[in-house]
Amino acid sequence: MVLTLVKLLKSREAQRVMRRNPFGVDICCRKGSRSPLQELYNPTQLELSNTAVLHQMRRDQVTDTCRANSAVSRKRRVLTPNDLKHLVVDEDHELIYCYVPKVACTNWKRLMMVLSGRGKYSDPMEIPANEAHVAANLKTLNQYSIPEINHRLKSYMKFLFVREPFERLVSAYRNKFTQKYNTSFHKRYGTKIIRRQRKNATQEALRRGDDVRFEEFVAYLIDPHTQREEPFNEHWQTVHSLCHPCHIRYDLVGKYETLEEDSNYVLRLAGVGSYLKFPTYAKSTRTTDEMTTEFFQNISSEHQTQLYEVYKLDFLMFNYSVPSYLKLE
Ligand SMILES: *[C@@H]1O[C@H](CO)[C@@H](O)[C@H](O)[C@H]1NC(C)=O
Ligand SMILES: *[C@@H]1O[C@H](CO)[C@@H](O)[C@H](O)[C@H]1NC(C)=O
Ligand SMILES: *[C@@H]1O[C@H](CO)[C@@H](O)[C@H](O)[C@H]1NC(C)=O
Ligand SMILES: *[C@@H]1O[C@H](CO)[C@@H](O)[C@H](O)[C@H]1NC(C)=O
Repeated sequence: MVLTLVKLLKSREAQRVMRRNPFGVDICCRKGSRSPLQELYNPTQLELSNTAVLHQMRRDQVTDTCRANSAVSRKRRVLTPNDLKHLVVDEDHELIYCYVPKVACTNWKRLMMVLSGRGKYSDPMEIPANEAHVAANLKTLNQYSIPEINHRLKSYMKFLFVREPFERLVSAYRNKFTQKYNTSFHKRYGTKIIRRQRKNATQEALRRGDDVRFEEFVAYLIDPHTQREEPFNEHWQTVHSLCHPCHIRYDLVGKYETLEEDSNYVLRLAGVGSYLKFPTYAKSTRTTDEMTTEFFQNISSEHQTQLYEVYKLDFLMFNYSVPSYLKLE
């Protein structure tokens, strides 16, 4: 009985969201239907129960890690709205997504645009990648008043997607420093990295900043000057610094390793799973574990150890084991 009611409401909502009407405020909203939070913690669909157990374990892992490392994880006692810039809000489905660059964030931003677009888009892949990264296209939590923020943190389903930290790091390096098409990272970071980390750098290299070696990038990351000067760029910043999982209790931790499965689970909880799926595509340039192993071969064990320390909380919190290729001191 309850099940049928939920299904009915869902399909009605599906039709409402699918209708292309950029003006209709009334087409959205899941009023009367169960919220994603209710669906997550008290599933009515039997096949979702096992998944709920898995996600409980992932949440516990985060909580336990935060507790065991409270000196580091809660260095800061309170968050300010400025810390919430990565939390994308969808009011219509009561979702909050903390985006982490290099973890399928373009596709998840596209999905958030479909979900919160009130019928403006129906196919995530029709949204160009660069448009998904235009800040004005998505509403983030820091744009609300404090009471509005607190209300949403309490009643919306908060989720994020994580990835093996060193694979994410190699992916960021490859994307920003080995591709020639966009020079902004070369100018902004490459020139600085070469100036600091390369002895006898040529004038040409200092000017262009476009041939940063992975060893130099690692040396830059573990250099105490770097973090003292300014926070890491978001593409290599730790997940715990971007999303604050020790302060914000995430309801769901998705993983890049099970991206499609975890993403579609979020969509089902949001009540849109029957017509909205995570976009799949064959990405041949994807950074793999083998590639990561190769990049780390050139890094001294001293630097490996220091780098592991920088990303350690991400490893522990999200249950990634110490990579077997590391030679830690
Ligand atoms: C952590 O990872 C191990 C090994 O991959 C796995 O057996 C265990 O269930 C995971 N724990 C959580 C909380 O995900
Ligand atoms: C280059 O990268 C910068 C920073 O990520 C971005 O703002 C800019 O739009 C990019 N330009 C192109 C042509 O992709
Ligand atoms: C730097 O260049 C000088 C002169 O060409 C050379 O003698 C020296 O060995 C170089 N140092 C390094 C670290 O490559
Ligand atoms: C490792 O270092 C060697 C020698 O400097 C270099 O030729 C090679 O490209 C490096 N490999 C990687 C994956 O960076």
